[in-house]
Amino acid sequence: MSPSRVPKPSAAVIADLIASARKARKRAYAPYSNFHVGAAVLAGGRIFPGVNVEIASYPLSVCAERNAIAAAVMAGKTTIDAVAVVADEDVPTPPCGGCRQALYEFGPDMLVVAEADNGRRAEWVLSSLLPAAFDSASLRDR
Ligand code: THU
Repeated sequence: MSPSRVPKPSAAVIADLIASARKARKRAYAPYSNFHVGAAVLAGGRIFPGVNVEIASYPLSVCAERNAIAAAVMAGKTTIDAVAVVADEDVPTPPCGGCRQALYEFGPDMLVVAEADNGRRAEWVLSSLLPAAFDSASLRDR
């Protein structure tokens, strides 16, 4: 899929998406890492936030992005146009590798926006963050 197939959301929508992630971050449950992450996905014109949720058995913890994806899927959305990620850092935090794969499932060419506490922003097209991705096509003929 070429990046041109996904129209870039307007600046106002991107601002709303980041604001949603920033608001959600206050609910992050991260008592072990103390690294609070808020995410929000844009799907079908709606915004679905999520936060990271850590568990004392560390590998069971779930990233903010994947909790936002779950909220969108619960609402019947299976295509995501953009994701925003906000962490309490002074540099933008890109999605981790696992979340790149999970996001790819729902929009290989979605816009990825990360914003730092100080407003510094970084943007990518997801497919540029996950080249040569493994996806459903990789499973054909099974
Ligand atoms: N985390 C996220 O929620 N999203 C990311 O993309 C990077 C990492 C969380 C997982 C863990 O709760 C904490 O940040 C530290 O890794």
